[in-house]
Amino acid sequence: MGMSEKYAHLRPSTRPFADEDAASRIRRIRTDRWIGYARAEAVLAALEDLLSFPKRLRMPNLLLVGPTNNGKTMIVEKFRRTHLAAGGEPAEGPALIPVLKVQMPSGPDEGRFFGAILDALGMPFGARDRIAAKQDAAVRLMRATKVQLLVIDELHNLLSGTALQQRRLLNVLRWLGNELQIPLVGVGTAEALRAIRSDEQLANRFEPWPLPLWTDDKEYRRLLTTLEAVLPLRKPSHLTDPAMAARILSAAEGVLGEVIAIVIRAAVKAVETGVETISPRMIEGAGFIRPSERRRVAI
Ligand SMILES: Nc1ncnc2c1ncn2[C@@H]1O[C@H](COP(=O)(O)OP(=O)(O)OP(=O)(O)O)[C@@H](O)[C@H]1O
Ligand SMILES: [Mg+2]
Repeated sequence: MGMSEKYAHLRPSTRPFADEDAASRIRRIRTDRWIGYARAEAVLAALEDLLSFPKRLRMPNLLLVGPTNNGKTMIVEKFRRTHLAAGGEPAEGPALIPVLKVQMPSGPDEGRFFGAILDALGMPFGARDRIAAKQDAAVRLMRATKVQLLVIDELHNLLSGTALQQRRLLNVLRWLGNELQIPLVGVGTAEALRAIRSDEQLANRFEPWPLPLWTDDKEYRRLLTTLEAVLPLRKPSHLTDPAMAARILSAAEGVLGEVIAIVIRAAVKAVETGVETISPRMIEGAGFIRPSERRRVAI
């Protein structure tokens, strides 16, 4: 058999790994990797659009909304990494940070929020510094590092604050966008959308981009094809066979992170057992707890 026919189910760049020993392949299978899919690429294109938007008084904002474990953070993180210090480090002055990503702290207030920004900028601050001081430092440093777009992940944490804190933080968001004239990108669950909608002005400026649960369609089958092609098993698993695809989707309850985790765990088992192909039994097999059951156990 020629090398070209061997491992035809794998991407050409994955094929050489299929001859590695079990331990190396298991490590590879478990390694984080970016898997592209149409909706993610569309969000990335929208983010690119925002980044190149000319400064003006009212900047457009975007809100990435979807259930937990469904790939939201992966997308904004991919975007941030793509724009690390574009154009190289300046000879002097602070490093450029085109895309700044922070997390909305839980139990949020303005002090903690600006603290999170200073943290992300690598700027130490005292927990007891006054809010105004942190706000000044955060804005000054965002200007100095030429932040062009601010991503706020876990935006739904807004709702863990009191009504007064929520109102104040929504004001801060509005103020920050105006002051720096940069687009804001919110990321969170449907609760985040609810928080934004409680402020009429912000609601008008944030365009919601849904990242819904997965259903059994062409895009899902394409995802399975990609997954199969990047996991170095020696035999094809035919994940896109209708019964197999349906079984994975139902075990994952439509959540992207679960689809990927289930296939990865099954692939590890396929290597460990020497079977080299994912069987339907491995999908249903021991150790797989459905997300909803896991939640029930956690409660
Ligand atoms: N594009 C992708 N490529 C590869 N793996 C992915 C991708 N998207 C999601 N995953 C997998 O799914 C997991 C969950 O994704 P992510 O952390 O982005 O979810 P989330 O929507 O931000 O969830 P939460 O709301 O709980 O923060 C990731 O840890 C990763 O294993
Ligand atoms: Mg996340």
